[in-house]
Amino acid sequence: MDNLLNQLREELEEAFSELSIPDQPSNLYEPMRYIIGLGGKRIRPMLTLLGCQLMGGDRKRAIPQALAVEIFHNFTLVHDDIMDSADVRRGLPTVHKKWDKNIAILSGDGMLVVAYQYLMQAEAAKLSKLAEVFSITALEVCEGQQLDMDYAAQSSVSLEAYTYMIRRKTAVLLGGAMQLGAIIAGSTDKDLELIGRFAEDMGFAFQLRDDYLDSFGEQESFGKEIGGDIREGKRTWLTIKAYELASPAQRLRLDQAFASSDVNQRIEIVTSIYHELGVAAMLTAEIERYSKESAVALDAIDGNEEVKQQLRGLVAYLMGRMS
Ligand code: IPE
Ligand code: IPE
Ligand code: MG
Ligand code: MG
Ligand code: MG
Repeated sequence: MDNLLNQLREELEEAFSELSIPDQPSNLYEPMRYIIGLGGKRIRPMLTLLGCQLMGGDRKRAIPQALAVEIFHNFTLVHDDIMDSADVRRGLPTVHKKWDKNIAILSGDGMLVVAYQYLMQAEAAKLSKLAEVFSITALEVCEGQQLDMDYAAQSSVSLEAYTYMIRRKTAVLLGGAMQLGAIIAGSTDKDLELIGRFAEDMGFAFQLRDDYLDSFGEQESFGKEIGGDIREGKRTWLTIKAYELASPAQRLRLDQAFASSDVNQRIEIVTSIYHELGVAAMLTAEIERYSKESAVALDAIDGNEEVKQQLRGLVAYLMGRMS
């Protein structure tokens, strides 16, 4: 990452260190501080600040909305880790492992409220648009999460359905994050639409990359358990493509692996079939294609050229990311 992006990160970390989260009851607030303090890439709040600056605004004015988006994102992670039975997040125990499920549910709910408190720290004239965009986005993330779980229980899911699902669970939040910054800068609805399109395309490629790393990444840099998606029977681009290309014998092995109660064996067999079929390289090509598509959407925005250049750098960083 180059200079402006590093600078944004520093500004954000400073703002995060000053977050006003009460102390007591500690089982409500400590998990919030823990998960937010674990950091992560801070992509979404960066997009909020960049969205503001792209459209000619002072990015410092968008800091509360940037915090709101990241706190919301962290809330979704805490609940997502319960849904996905995930023990590791950002290289450390997930909230429901370190504490317990009930604590993770409630502190997650609390984070959603805190996110709204930050969202509303803006001039009165902007509040209704901010609330509208944020609420629509948040509900769409819930829709995506539900579809993600529904699909895990279905034997066959189309690429089209998967595409729709990841747009909702992940891409729309990157779109919404950037739109909030642009609202602070005073953008028109037309600009907001173009900005949303770019960041959503980027978010789509980003979730594809996350699905790739879930099977082929390194736990240390990815910060999450490798093979978690296969363990949970998630339908991803990789499973869908593997079923499409499998020979009858490979299909049978896939079916047996997903039906097996031996989780380690399931991960081993499915991963080896991915290797046999070469789906990793195909997914990499697909990620490349969608990244390029997002670059075209970025070109269509009438905004600050220097910021656009930073956004191109951010896309490249994310698609090559090891974590
Ligand atoms: C994780 O998001 C959830 C997905 C949508 C893939 P990130 O990969 O942005 O997680 P952090 O915030 O950097 O840890
Ligand atoms: C995450 O999808 C989407 C949301 C948290 C809303 P994943 O389940 O793939 O995210 P990770 O891999 O656990 O971060
Ligand atoms: Mg999930
Ligand atoms: Mg998950
Ligand atoms: Mg994932």
